[in-house]
Amino acid sequence: MNAKITATGAYLPEKIMTNFDLEKMVDTSDEWIKQRTGIEIRHIADKETTAELAAKAALDILKNSRLSASDIELIIIATVTPEHPLPATALFVQEKIGAYNAFGFDINAACSGFTYSLSVANAYIRSGMVKNALVIGAETLSKIVDWQDRSTCVIFGDGAAGVLLEAVDDDSVGVLDMVLHSDGRYTDLMIVPAPGSRYPCSEEVIKNRDIYIKMKGNETFKMAIRSIAGVSQEVLDRVGLNFGDVDWMVSHQANRRIIEGVAKRVGLDMNKVIITIDRHANTAAASIPLALDWAYKSGKIKEGDIVLLNSFGASLTWSAGVIRW
Ligand code: COA
Repeated sequence: MNAKITATGAYLPEKIMTNFDLEKMVDTSDEWIKQRTGIEIRHIADKETTAELAAKAALDILKNSRLSASDIELIIIATVTPEHPLPATALFVQEKIGAYNAFGFDINAACSGFTYSLSVANAYIRSGMVKNALVIGAETLSKIVDWQDRSTCVIFGDGAAGVLLEAVDDDSVGVLDMVLHSDGRYTDLMIVPAPGSRYPCSEEVIKNRDIYIKMKGNETFKMAIRSIAGVSQEVLDRVGLNFGDVDWMVSHQANRRIIEGVAKRVGLDMNKVIITIDRHANTAAASIPLALDWAYKSGKIKEGDIVLLNSFGASLTWSAGVIRW
């Protein structure tokens, strides 16, 4: 059995924050943000929670599929901004969509969360344990961003999107292979220090602003292009394909310059690269499925296309997958 993406879906919160809005909040400019990141706007969930965004994305996926909520067997939510420390956000999504025959859990692999989750759902389906899975990346990063720190607050956004993965009796289609990496020597590159078992909730962690994202952006940037290009080559080698066979590259949308750098390094024309960072910003685990959903619904990705997914995230995780759509 292979696992094939049979539907996609997405949800973006209504509120839009422009670079000009940010100019009024921190010492930054539309020009700097556009030039250094490619971002023009981002969506902000000021009223909705992560599970609410994920449930709306799940309902969109179901609407675009031939299944109903009661048919779903597994729900995986990739997120670094869960509804609560416990229980898993997946359970709130299960309740909101009424998928009571499923079991669910969350995965935290930062911006690689969607690809990590896809690999888990793929393995469950290939093993025969389940016949289908909803795999959703959902984030409300605006709630863990330090709105006083211009080096981070300008790059993140909120949203949710995902796919329905279903078993198919055809090993030439679907997820052909995936490669995942992590390196725990770099956990200080991007971290939300508190609250957790090391720094439980206290007045001190709030005063130190340790409840917000802290990132060494420039050091992260330097490692990203080489890692993403390398893992993409690895997964293509495993399935006997090369970059010339790729119809679409759908990357984690962290920075337009990173994506362009990867495309240049591997010799891929930018007209085969999906870009959504201009209007979504960096939505961590939601960014790849948001880009996939847009690329599929806008008619770019078509049946039979070879789609290369690749990601890079804190701290550090990186991964790639090859899909025959
Ligand atoms: N507006 C204006 N100036 C800003 C700014 C902002 N929002 N943020 C930082 N700057 C300034 C810095 O203070 C620095 O000023 P200085 O030269 O006077 O010291 C200058 O811009 C350059 O800062 P630097 O951090 O080197 O910028 P950069 O080109 O690396 O861009 C990021 C910053 C964050 C956009 C970029 O490093 C990046 O995208 N990194 C990767 C992020 C990532 O992938 N995260 C991990 C997982 S998703």
